[in-house]
Amino acid sequence: MSTPPVGTTAVAATSRGRFDAHEVRSRFPLLTARRERPLVYLDSAATSQKPESVLAAMDDYYRRYNANIHRGIYAIAEEATAAYEDARARLARFIGAPSREVIFTRNSTEAINLVAYAWGRWALKQGDAVVLTVMEHHSNLVPWHILAAERGIELRFIPVTDSGELQMEALPGLLADGRVRLVGVVHISNVLGTVNPVGEIARQAHAAGALALVDASQSVPHMPVDVKALGCDFLALTSHKMLGPTGIGALWARRELLEAMPPFLGGGEMIREVKLQGSKWNELPWKFEAGTMAIAEAVGLRAAVVFNEELGMERIFEHDRELARYALERMIEVPGVRILGPPAEKRGGVVAFELGEIHPHDVATVLDHHGIAVRAGHHCAMPLHDRLGVPASARASFHCYSVPGDVDALVEGLHHARKVFG
Ligand SMILES: Cc1ncc(COP(=O)(O)O)c(C=O)c1O
Repeated sequence: MSTPPVGTTAVAATSRGRFDAHEVRSRFPLLTARRERPLVYLDSAATSQKPESVLAAMDDYYRRYNANIHRGIYAIAEEATAAYEDARARLARFIGAPSREVIFTRNSTEAINLVAYAWGRWALKQGDAVVLTVMEHHSNLVPWHILAAERGIELRFIPVTDSGELQMEALPGLLADGRVRLVGVVHISNVLGTVNPVGEIARQAHAAGALALVDASQSVPHMPVDVKALGCDFLALTSHKMLGPTGIGALWARRELLEAMPPFLGGGEMIREVKLQGSKWNELPWKFEAGTMAIAEAVGLRAAVVFNEELGMERIFEHDRELARYALERMIEVPGVRILGPPAEKRGGVVAFELGEIHPHDVATVLDHHGIAVRAGHHCAMPLHDRLGVPASARASFHCYSVPGDVDALVEGLHHARKVFG
């Protein structure tokens, strides 16, 4: 039995014709809620807001067919199972993958840890090397640090240029000795907004006998992503940045790898048979989904995928980039602003910056007094900030509901911050 698609036609009206960000915004209750001063939300790279259709879908699940999945033989359990599996099918189609190859996790951090623990501990031995980049989020660094310390694995890094791009000419040298087993790279940097050439990196990795892992936390929510077109082997994503709920994300991996890898977590659901002295694993994808999964969140993620599809990922990307271009143009009007990262045509909807000598936390605090929410700090990318020679930065980031007026408010707020700090 399939669940009625609550809220699944939320943006049908905008699926053709011009992208109307004001109309899209009206579908996000948090952004339209009445409050003392209007909220200018510029922290979508940290987490996106959620449309009404996502909230309604989760509410509907809890009110109407809350039951555990894959177990019950009664109607609402079957309905919950169908909804959960349909979420997987829709997410898989969204990224151009077969359903069986999509594993639900808590978030992209857990997806990358799954690769490091299950694949890494099975496939890597002392003396092997893993190539990452200097612009990785901590979630694609720390799991490899843990593995490197445990197994004697060498970590190598693709450097970053002063303008915030990968120094691609270094990659052949990093791969040259044939010891590299995996190249892991962020698709869109959460600090610089740089869109990395992950297809070319995967091609070079394969030519050197290595696998390619893509951290798509910032790309799947903002642009069309097709795992086959990218040619990678593993891809991590997280729901809460793509208009879905927190608590769920996914790992996509090629079937042969998932078949060969041992499980990550053990327990209920991921087994076919258990004896006192051993157990046999379930088939894919459930082999990697131990215990009760995030069912309501899967239902919410399904609604988010539908929302994104109906809006059109090309148009979301174009919209985000257009806003980033406008932000770059307007922000340099403010004396002392220094933008991190590449020119507009090479980035997504993320703009990290410094404002003279003013600490980013102070900038964010002044902006907050104007109702403007930006992120300040190292954005979980300390090595990148070290490379750029800045301890921290402030960051404005956009999504489909962001409008040029948000950028105008930011610019006004930055002028005010300068006055406040003299
Ligand atoms: C590029 C990148 N990778 C990974 C993550 C981790 O996402 P999550 O905390 O949902 O696991 C983030 C979150 O900010 C990110 O921006």
